[in-house]
Amino acid sequence: MPASLERRISEAADLVTVALDALLPRADGPEQRLTEAMRYAALGPGKRLRPFFALETGKMFDLPERPVLRAACALECIHAYSLVHDDLPCMDDDDVRRGRPTVHIEYDEATAVLTGDALQTAAFEILAHPDTHPDGNVRAELVRRLAISSGAQGMAGGQMIDILGVREDLGGVARMQRLKTGALIAYAFEIPLIMAHAQEAERHALLGFAQDLGLAYQIVDDVLDAEGDPEAMGKATGGKDAAMGKANYVTLLGLDAAKERVELLAEQTRAHLDGFGERADVLRASVDFVLGRRN
Ligand code: IPE
Ligand code: IPE
Ligand code: MG
Ligand code: MG
Ligand code: MG
Repeated sequence: MPASLERRISEAADLVTVALDALLPRADGPEQRLTEAMRYAALGPGKRLRPFFALETGKMFDLPERPVLRAACALECIHAYSLVHDDLPCMDDDDVRRGRPTVHIEYDEATAVLTGDALQTAAFEILAHPDTHPDGNVRAELVRRLAISSGAQGMAGGQMIDILGVREDLGGVARMQRLKTGALIAYAFEIPLIMAHAQEAERHALLGFAQDLGLAYQIVDDVLDAEGDPEAMGKATGGKDAAMGKANYVTLLGLDAAKERVELLAEQTRAHLDGFGERADVLRASVDFVLGRRN
């Protein structure tokens, strides 16, 4: 990986953490427990890959950074909420996230449910604020697309399929992965596409890129669940998905076939960028980095 890419990703992460810190609410009364838990969940050491993709794609379209950054923070709030709820005892029942106790362990279950709820609404509050974009139509579209990407036709719908553990076929698993993980990754690209009023061809190419990347990203996560280092990952590994009866590429096909699938998808993912030429160099380079992750 070029050193400059690593630097770009970590600079984007710092930018997002500082912006999120300023955007998330603080409180004085007893509800302070909730705002503290929200901050604990959202400001923890995440990779911030979704905001990184939004910011880089914003640069491709010469967009000003501030609106993209605000919308990227909204997306990160939804992502953080999805993780808090994903870790609950009634879902994946995990005790460690980003190298620290999960929210329901650090606080309690009720606080974790409310933390997810409040992070979700914080995301829409950020998007709807005039500082995010001067054009109300753009803001409405940002809100609409995030609602779709995170709801029953997106992340939450995919999580439902995951919890049901439906194992009929690989196509069904791919669809689940595209919903639970691909939809929010794709929203990172929706942000600049909406703000730039991009043409249909650009939209089609970037969302195709995002969808394939999202699927590959989740397969890598499933591979790392089987063979990753829990210290590096900051969460439980050791075949927890298999033990829980989850249906994914690793539990259905085995590790080697799942890794092969990632290789194929990486190529397919990059091919979506052919029409962008040099403008997409950073995105192109980030595919191998993101899929080669060990954390
Ligand atoms: C974890 O997402 C959940 C998946 C969709 C695989 P990330 O791997 O982006 O987690 P953080 O934000 O860096 O903690
Ligand atoms: C993705 O799946 C979770 C979400 C969409 C929130 P996982 O359940 O595999 O994610 P991790 O492994 O807990 O991060
Ligand atoms: Mg899960
Ligand atoms: Mg999980
Ligand atoms: Mg996982």
